[in-house]
Amino acid sequence: MNDIMQLYPPLQQPRALSGLYLDLNLQRQAEPGDLLIYANYIASVDGRIAVREQGCNDFVVPKAIANQRDWRLYQELAAQADVMLTSARYFRQLAQGSAQDLLPVGKQAEYADLTEWRLQQGMKAQPNVVIISNSLNIPTAALDNVQDRRITICTSDRADHRQVDRLTSLGVAVYMAGHDRVEGLRLKQLLVSMGYRSAYMIAGPEVHRTLLADGVLNQLFLTTRLNLLGYDAFHTILSGQLDQPVSLHLQRLYLDQDSANPQLFAQYNTLHPR
Ligand SMILES: NC(=O)c1ccc[n+]([C@@H]2O[C@H](COP(=O)([O-])OP(=O)(O)OC[C@H]3O[C@@H](n4cnc5c(N)ncnc54)[C@H](OP(=O)(O)O)[C@@H]3O)[C@@H](O)[C@H]2O)c1
Repeated sequence: MNDIMQLYPPLQQPRALSGLYLDLNLQRQAEPGDLLIYANYIASVDGRIAVREQGCNDFVVPKAIANQRDWRLYQELAAQADVMLTSARYFRQLAQGSAQDLLPVGKQAEYADLTEWRLQQGMKAQPNVVIISNSLNIPTAALDNVQDRRITICTSDRADHRQVDRLTSLGVAVYMAGHDRVEGLRLKQLLVSMGYRSAYMIAGPEVHRTLLADGVLNQLFLTTRLNLLGYDAFHTILSGQLDQPVSLHLQRLYLDQDSANPQLFAQYNTLHPR
């Protein structure tokens, strides 16, 4: 069904959801020897990407914004990635059974076309995984879920050496990419040295700030679900301090006219201050 209206640049002809992001070919956009890094979020109009419900310790993506149509686009972005950048928090939630889902590309029948597409592009069936963590509190059991991918952990010089030894003994490569914390530029240099051309960042506001602060995030995909949530304990797409604001250049804006999931899909290029 053609229920996506392109609002910017304006187009009269509606189009289908499927393929909306896959057509971007993000895996081919980086210059030779360089890497394209992109991030993706879904938020309510009041900016919530995760909330802590009463009586819960954990922040979770609220059911009132998560939906299958946005999830399809999340999967399409993953299909174009050589590697996915995640946080240790995701693996902790995975071990507790409270993670949103297994890492894409999903094994469900509705995403089989994406795995097939990757193989046609000469990519591996699944993107590799980079986990960003200072604590290195990454449960062994959670790593078992991604044994079909190359796993790399990025941490800082302050990492606990016993944790480094535990993780390397599991066959996982651990790299130092920062003094006190992982730094965006060091992370990007590492990813380039590993031969990656496209990296999809699916972590939350801290990793986002890490990339933005060093000017290494190239594109931002933001779904805005047309509702207001409230809540006092919540995350937005960015936390912490930036030395200067990062300007965004709107590339495309779509309205999803599906009556059950009214939402906007925006694609931005980042314009980093020099
Ligand atoms: N709605 C959405 O689109 C969306 C998208 C992504 C996430 N979320 C939600 O947002 C919430 C927060 O996500 P998140 O915890 O993944 O976000 P995050 O704030 O980016 O990451 C938190 C963890 O990542 C590690 N980390 C981050 N930056 C680091 C750095 N520079 N150096 C070293 N380690 C660093 C730390 O791990 P250690 O504690 O191990 O040191 C930290 O605890 C979750 O509830 C998640 O479900 C929502």
